[in-house]
Amino acid sequence: MAAGAISVPLEVYRFDPAHDPAPRYDRYTVELEPHVPVLSALLKVRAEIDPTLTLRYSCRSAICGSCALQINSKSRLACETPVGPEIERHGRIVVEPMRNQPVLRDLVVDQGPFWHQYDRIDPHLRPDPAHPMPVDAPTSMSPEQVERFKETPRCIACAACFSACPAVEADPTFPGPMALAKLYRFVVDPRDGTTQDRLVRIQTEGLWLCLRCHLCTEACPKDVRPSERIRDLKEMAIAVQGATERGSRHAVGFKENIRVAGTLNETRLVRQTDGVVGMVGQLGQGLRIWRKKPELLHRPKPIQGQAEVDQIYEALDDAKGGP
Ligand code: FES
Repeated sequence: MAAGAISVPLEVYRFDPAHDPAPRYDRYTVELEPHVPVLSALLKVRAEIDPTLTLRYSCRSAICGSCALQINSKSRLACETPVGPEIERHGRIVVEPMRNQPVLRDLVVDQGPFWHQYDRIDPHLRPDPAHPMPVDAPTSMSPEQVERFKETPRCIACAACFSACPAVEADPTFPGPMALAKLYRFVVDPRDGTTQDRLVRIQTEGLWLCLRCHLCTEACPKDVRPSERIRDLKEMAIAVQGATERGSRHAVGFKENIRVAGTLNETRLVRQTDGVVGMVGQLGQGLRIWRKKPELLHRPKPIQGQAEVDQIYEALDDAKGGP
C-alpha cells in the first residue's frame, strides 16, 4: 500500500432493470489517500476491477451536479466527498443511486421526474406585458433586491434535495425543493409580472405538501437552503391570498395555537384546518384517539414558559411590522 493510503471498503448498488431480477450490492476494496473523493474510488473500481460499473459524472469539480449519489445514506456529490471521513465514521462506504428517480442502471437514474417538476414551475422571467422594461435600462434591481435571492443562483441542479425529500417520496405531485427554490427566485424578482399568479397557482400545485423537515437544506451541497425558500413562498402565498388552502389554514392555525397557549390544542387545530364539516369526517379517528389518549383532546394546560412565547411572538411581530 502506498504511503498515506488507506483501505477503502465499498459496497456499491448494482442493478440492471432489463436483466436483473433484483438489485444487489457488490463489494470492492481499493487503496486511496483519505482526501481522495468517492467518485475517484468508483472510477478506480471501474478501471481496475469491474468495467461494467455504470455511473454518471462530468466536471469532477462540484460544478455540474451530475455525480450526486447516496453515500452512506446521505445525498452527496461524489466528487467532493472524501473517502477518509466516511471510513472513519462508518467503517465502509455504501454507494447507492439517488432516490425518488427510477434507476436506469447501477448508479445512474432517470432524472425525468426531477426535470418534469422544474418545467412545471416555469422558472423563467415573465415580464409584465403592460409594463415592459426599457431596453436600455441600466439595471432594474437594487442590490437589496438581488440580496433577496442570492442563494438560489448557486443551485447546480444536482437533485440532492429531490433525492433527500420525503414529501417527493410520499407524493410525486410535490414539485420538490429545487423547483420551489427556483420559483422563489422569480417571485421576488421585481421584473417578473406574474408574481401573484405564481403564488396563487403554486398553492394548489403542491406548495403545502412540504413537510418542513429541512432535509433538503441539509443535503444541498451549495447552501441554497431550499426549505427556507419554501417557507418564504408559504408566507408570501398567505399574504397574497389569505389562508384559503388546507395547508395554509393548518399553518396559520398552528401559529395561533402556540401564540394563545404555548402548545397545541389538537381539537381546535383540526377545526381550524378542516372546518366543522371536515371534523365530522374525522370522527372515527377522533374516537380512536379518545379511547387511547383522551388527554390529547382536552384543552391543554397553560405552559410555564408562556411569557417567553409571548416575547418571541412580539419580536416576530416587530420584525414584520405587525402580527
Ligand atoms: S462531477 Fe460535476 S459535480 Fe461532481
